[in-house]
Amino acid sequence: MDHYNQGRPTRQAHKGIPDGLFEEEQGTKGFFGPVSYLIRKNPSTNWVKIDGPLKPRMFDLVELPKQSGCQRLLFNQHLTISNLWISANEAKNLVAQRNADGDVIYFCHRGRGEIFSDYGVLGFESGHYIVMPKCITHAILPGEDCQFLVIENRSSHFEQPDRGLVGRNALYDANALVKPDLATQEARLKELKLEPKVVVVKHLDQMTTFTYPTTVFDVVAWKGDLYPFTLHVDHLMPLMSHRAHLPPSAHSTFVGREFVVCTFVPRPLETDADALKVPFYHQNIDYDEVLFYHAGDFFSRDNLHPGMMSFHPAGFAHGPHPKAVKSIGGKTHTNEYAVMIDSRWPLNRDAALDQVELGEYWKSWQG
Ligand SMILES: [Fe+2]
Repeated sequence: MDHYNQGRPTRQAHKGIPDGLFEEEQGTKGFFGPVSYLIRKNPSTNWVKIDGPLKPRMFDLVELPKQSGCQRLLFNQHLTISNLWISANEAKNLVAQRNADGDVIYFCHRGRGEIFSDYGVLGFESGHYIVMPKCITHAILPGEDCQFLVIENRSSHFEQPDRGLVGRNALYDANALVKPDLATQEARLKELKLEPKVVVVKHLDQMTTFTYPTTVFDVVAWKGDLYPFTLHVDHLMPLMSHRAHLPPSAHSTFVGREFVVCTFVPRPLETDADALKVPFYHQNIDYDEVLFYHAGDFFSRDNLHPGMMSFHPAGFAHGPHPKAVKSIGGKTHTNEYAVMIDSRWPLNRDAALDQVELGEYWKSWQG
């Protein structure tokens, strides 16, 4: 369609919105497709009643039962999002595993430890993404109690986002990706007297156990461009414009074919007087949005703590909490760490989420 406008729209999106009015972005293809900006008299989150299953949802993953194994929370045919607790006690019993259903990202929310693999050992601590390609044998050795957000890519492989105009060292440098260390792994396993001989393989979500007479971590050399790696949120270099708020896609960290993983890290706020400083009201028409709050002060709303996860399916606009709009005035920087997963196709909820849902969340936009 041709670009067209009615009334008196702004010259630049997210900037110069007339006092007392509100901008709503309605965008397709994750804001890369046809998109329009509406100036409204009221925030598009001003609902007073919602009847039916579609609504904004908030979950407190800290309250999930501390059972071992991955607890799936949201899923479709391309993507699963799960919570994983690993108790420090499990260090005594190192179990190797392989995921034949897809690449996995373990985002370490709490804890620290090591992850052994066919390719060598990687250290991790809170704030690390561990990217583990499909079918690679690995075993997590917790150094303390750990909590992970687990993102499984069931229909493609994780890739880095296209940096486009800003060049290949933007967002994060290739040198920020930590590679596995085979020599250190051999020494560590010897020191710890660990020789895992069993691999649990997940295929079509069913577990099969392969037992060997010798340790499964017996690789003495490798080469190639397929291997697990880590990336810490402190090594992300957020893009920003001091003049106008950038969309979340500017904060992409990893991409799958049918979803994107973005990271919000502390950054300066926009400095132009007429720039919108809080996230704009928007409908990301083709995407379900999941936001996991990792650390810091979450500026887009109040009453949040680390370990909470919001779920905003397509079908309604969302935007900042009214208190965030009021409190942003004196702030110069954001101080939040959050992981966002935007899914191209609708996500289903697992029953495990029912017990940790904050039922009144949909009312939280009412100032
Ligand atoms: Fe959003």
